[in-house]
Amino acid sequence: MRGLLLAIWLLCTSAAIFAQDTSLKAVEAAFKKANITKDLQITFKPSVLLDVIWPEPGFTVPTRTGETLQQNETAGPPRFAVHGILPEVHKFVVAAVDPDALTPQNPNVSQIRHLLQGNVVRGPTVGFRTHLLVNETPAVTDWIQPAPGAGSAPHRYVFLLYKQPKGYNNQTFVAPNDSIPAREFFNISQFAQEVGMGDPIAGSFVLVGPGP
Ligand SMILES: *[C@@H]1O[C@H](CO)[C@@H](O)[C@H](O)[C@H]1NC(C)=O
Ligand SMILES: *[C@@H]1O[C@H](CO)[C@@H](O)[C@H](O)[C@H]1NC(C)=O
Ligand SMILES: *[C@@H]1O[C@H](CO)[C@@H](O)[C@H](O)[C@H]1NC(C)=O
Ligand SMILES: *[C@@H]1O[C@H](CO)[C@@H](O)[C@H](O)[C@H]1NC(C)=O
Ligand SMILES: *[C@@H]1O[C@H](CO)[C@@H](O)[C@H](O)[C@H]1NC(C)=O
Ligand SMILES: *[C@@H]1O[C@H](CO)[C@@H](O)[C@H](O)[C@H]1NC(C)=O
Repeated sequence: MRGLLLAIWLLCTSAAIFAQDTSLKAVEAAFKKANITKDLQITFKPSVLLDVIWPEPGFTVPTRTGETLQQNETAGPPRFAVHGILPEVHKFVVAAVDPDALTPQNPNVSQIRHLLQGNVVRGPTVGFRTHLLVNETPAVTDWIQPAPGAGSAPHRYVFLLYKQPKGYNNQTFVAPNDSIPAREFFNISQFAQEVGMGDPIAGSFVLVGPGP
């Protein structure tokens, strides 16, 4: 099924009919406006655009940065693509974090790490300067679906793409452990510093409220 959806997405890509991001400046501004730059303490000057592609019916195309999704549309795992000129490195790290857990008003267990995937490389070219990203190894932290508690305001789910530094595969700051407690109290900018990933080169985010 996912293969079929991806095939449909690839067709749509060549027809260029979907609502993906097209402006680095607009993505940067959306991160500022949503306080993500401040709350994640990141320096965010994206040099390429990151597409987050949800394999749900009706979401075979990338979401636009800042878009709101229904909780039941976020089972994923999402796939990723980039458009723009990729820097001369061969591997990337994708991270997804929720800075709004348990609630945006009381983010007392934030950030929750929803994904930490290294050894991501350029996959097939699917459009002008547009490449799918594929991973060569399992993730350190597998994708977990957004699940804001009943009554919570929507959370921000932030996706960031970094250049993978040498030594990433030997990092010991995050262990492969997908339990919820092991995902709490994460700090993406601290992790990036510890591992030497520098600043993110691309990013996107969606808003998701509690499920039915
Ligand atoms: C961003 O933070 C400012 C100041 O802390 C606050 O007034 C504003 O409502 C916040 N905006 C959003 C979208 O959360
Ligand atoms: C999500 O739930 C809504 C109702 O709450 C339903 O209309 C919609 O079809 C569901 N979407 C998916 C992808 O299951
Ligand atoms: C976070 O806040 C919730 C709601 O007030 C509370 O129940 C929970 O114990 C708090 N967790 C931590 C780790 O502080
Ligand atoms: C990673 O660890 C292995 C085994 O300890 C070592 O051989 C390798 O040189 C290390 N790689 C880097 C880039 O630090
Ligand atoms: C995973 O993390 C939890 C919470 O931090 C901890 O209790 C558990 O022992 C860890 N499991 C492994 C296999 O490291
Ligand atoms: C997260 O890490 C950054 C960089 O190390 C640090 O400046 C910041 O204080 C940390 N945030 C929290 C909430 O600990």
